[in-house]
Amino acid sequence: MRILGLVGSPRKGGNTDLLVSRILAGAGASGHLTEKVYLYPLAISPCTDCRSCQKGKLHCAVGDDMQLLYQKLEDADVVVFGTPLYWYGPSAKMKLLMDRLRPFVASGKLKGKKAIAVVPSEEGVAACNHLIGMFKLSFEYLGVTLIDTLRVKAYEKAEVNKQPEMLNRAFEIGKTLR
Ligand SMILES: Cc1cc2nc3c(=O)[nH]c(=O)nc-3n(C[C@H](O)[C@H](O)[C@H](O)COP(=O)(O)O)c2cc1C
Repeated sequence: MRILGLVGSPRKGGNTDLLVSRILAGAGASGHLTEKVYLYPLAISPCTDCRSCQKGKLHCAVGDDMQLLYQKLEDADVVVFGTPLYWYGPSAKMKLLMDRLRPFVASGKLKGKKAIAVVPSEEGVAACNHLIGMFKLSFEYLGVTLIDTLRVKAYEKAEVNKQPEMLNRAFEIGKTLR
């Protein structure tokens, strides 16, 4: 299978990055093809609700780096959505990406795929409930199944490295993907 890991934190080597990387490492150990994409260096404009994606070729009319990601999302069997908790929601860059998933409502090209949500936060598991709910409902709308979530209490950069049990859990999530 193809596993795409999205890192929606501006901190390379931060908690989101480390957890997504461990999932991809586990998936790689089981022979899956993996790719990691950092969202912050990419130009992702807001959805303008122009509704071009609901007509004709069902493509997004905005010409930016999201066009590369559309192909990667279509090619993936499993997508890991990694984002730090920012004000009880996703990071701004992850929200931009979510808004731009709208072409897939009409095209149905994400139907049948699987998603994993990875969310580090200062406050821990319960604080992430709204964000996980948002992911779950959005994925359901797109025909995507949220198969697992990894919520980790961590604040400082790379703090998850002090929680080997969480790194092991991330590795296992990737390793046991079917
Ligand atoms: C703008 C901003 C908003 C944040 N909001 C929350 C929040 O609402 N709840 C929380 O528990 N942590 C919050 N945090 C802390 C981050 O979720 C936490 O530091 C996380 O581990 C960062 O992940 P990263 O290392 O992948 O960037 C916030 C951090 C920033 C920068």
